[in-house]
Amino acid sequence: MKRLEWMALALLALGPQVVSVSAQPAATQASLNDKELTGMRLFNQSCRVCHTKPQLSSPLYGPALSRQSLGGQDDVMREVISNGTPRMPGFKHHFQPQQIDAIVAYLKTIPAPSP
Ligand code: HEC
Repeated sequence: MKRLEWMALALLALGPQVVSVSAQPAATQASLNDKELTGMRLFNQSCRVCHTKPQLSSPLYGPALSRQSLGGQDDVMREVISNGTPRMPGFKHHFQPQQIDAIVAYLKTIPAPSP
């Protein structure tokens, strides 16, 4: 395939994702409280890069997150976000505890993905 055709394909692949990224918060924002909204903003800044499908064919770095992550246990989520794992950086020096709380509150609003 020629280079231009690849570019067109790449754009096609990007299209729906760009749309859903911009459309989704609008749909969900209405139902989020202030804390959850703060968490969503922090998540978009610091977590999204690894926890949502990157563009094109790069692999997903981290698992998709939802209210079911880590068995839906808030304290375990706070622990993983604060201290990280061998493959994920910890955020305890990056965020205040209440910011981590806000991120957990936001994760709890994300429905579990269908299997
Ligand atoms: C550099 C990439 C990267 C960033 C940035 C990142 N994560 Fe992760 N995260 C991972 C990886 C990789 C895993 C899988 C953990 C493992 O296997 O060690 C993970 C696992 C998790 C888990 C456990 C999920 C499960 O089902 O086991 C949670 C919760 C989580 N991350 C939340 C967050 C939050 C919240 C942020 C932002 C504050 C964040 N992560 C930022 C890479 C990242």
